[in-house]
Amino acid sequence: MELPFAESYKIKMVESIRRSTREEREQWIENASYNLFNLRSEQVFIDLLTDSGTGAMSDKQWSAIMLGDESYAGASSFFKLKDAVYEITGFEHFLPTHQGRAAENVLFSAMIKEGDLVPGNSHFDTTKGHIEYRKARAIDCTIDEAFNTTVIHPFKGNIDHNKLEDVLKNNTSEKIPAIIVTVTCNSSGGQPVSMENLRETYKMAQKYGIPVLFDSARFAENAYFIKKREPGYADHSIRDIVREMFSYADMMTMSSKKDAIVNMGGFIAMRDQELYRKASVYNIIFEGYVTYGGMSGRDMNAVAQGLYEGTEYDYLDTRISQVAYLGSKLKSFDVPVQEPFGGHAIFIDAKQILPHISVEQFQAQTLAIELYLEAGVRGVEIGTLLADRDPVTRENRYPKLELLRLAIPRRVYTNNHMDYVAAAMGNVVARRDKIRNGLRIAYEAPIMRHFTVKLERTGL
Ligand code: F0G
Repeated sequence: MELPFAESYKIKMVESIRRSTREEREQWIENASYNLFNLRSEQVFIDLLTDSGTGAMSDKQWSAIMLGDESYAGASSFFKLKDAVYEITGFEHFLPTHQGRAAENVLFSAMIKEGDLVPGNSHFDTTKGHIEYRKARAIDCTIDEAFNTTVIHPFKGNIDHNKLEDVLKNNTSEKIPAIIVTVTCNSSGGQPVSMENLRETYKMAQKYGIPVLFDSARFAENAYFIKKREPGYADHSIRDIVREMFSYADMMTMSSKKDAIVNMGGFIAMRDQELYRKASVYNIIFEGYVTYGGMSGRDMNAVAQGLYEGTEYDYLDTRISQVAYLGSKLKSFDVPVQEPFGGHAIFIDAKQILPHISVEQFQAQTLAIELYLEAGVRGVEIGTLLADRDPVTRENRYPKLELLRLAIPRRVYTNNHMDYVAAAMGNVVARRDKIRNGLRIAYEAPIMRHFTVKLERTGL
């Protein structure tokens, strides 16, 4: 008999979670102005808001924490992490930051100016926010297949090279500080980018004299998909694949809260010493001295250990199989999801479930609220709320997809939790015709509105 799947770890410490009643949740979500970010964590039973900083650290990470060196300058923890970054990515220059968006802030301060264009594959919202904050523009060059949840394509995070070359050909290189490749591409559904696509993107970038930056939050998950799906890579180790991936980039920003499996942390790494020197100045202003950059020594130790654990095949297989398990369960309840399944999350197609709610009434957010009411499960909207307004026209931007993302924290939930989530979503889909009210905005911030938005039910 073929042996069934089993996790590549056992559980050493647990944290209690509590189921609530529907009446409690009705009250809580109203008090939260129908914004799931406003809930207290105790009001959530299974929290799939994000896989960022929510993972369970290993015994080895916790023990590394005890060995942290808290020296202001030249801490051994800094060098330990610098060595790990070099070993895993091949980048020689390294700056720690407190998280991924801080890495963006520091690096973009050294690189991006008003009027610039930054092509890439569906930039993450903070990345786009940091570009637009500098009055530059992010241009999405993701392949069209990414925007149809039912089309099967093994690498839906790929860059469309015709779209990219259009941008590069029609603008001077001074206007394009970098091409940003997000691996895996969160906004298109946690979808990977193929090695071939990375290689070709780098070739094109070199032809036009433009550097390539990897937004690397989930680089190890991307490497796993390359191993599984791209011809010629089945026998390569994850670490070898990762090294080849980064050979097609000049620099990286990292949110260590994802594939380094820590609760807080980030970094920048690069090949160019001149850029490193420039970025160091901003690191000192915004984050801290160059050998700690917003991180404590103990946390840098945990990141170093996490980078090694996060690039082990067995760990990645456990993680990504669990995400796929949830995806298959959801499909068995006729829930339309982005396929193939992504690395860190399952993305549910809200347009298909709630076609009778208009995009102006925030279909995906409406679905997210219904799932919370149904079972205390918290997901996050990846749709019109997140897409925000155009910075120039101030009109709402309506993205091609209205998605509800269920992100799975690393090493936290069991497959029983996944069964519960899938059944809850199945119940929501079964009663979708009775969901008659969408949402409207009562308050929004001028940028990154989804975090603090206040919403009201329409039609009440
Ligand atoms: N890049 C990507 C692809 C991300 O997914 C994130 C964060 C960041 C950059 C920013 O990193 O949070 O450490 O500042 N994504 C989280 C999420 C928040 O829920 O997907 P950060």
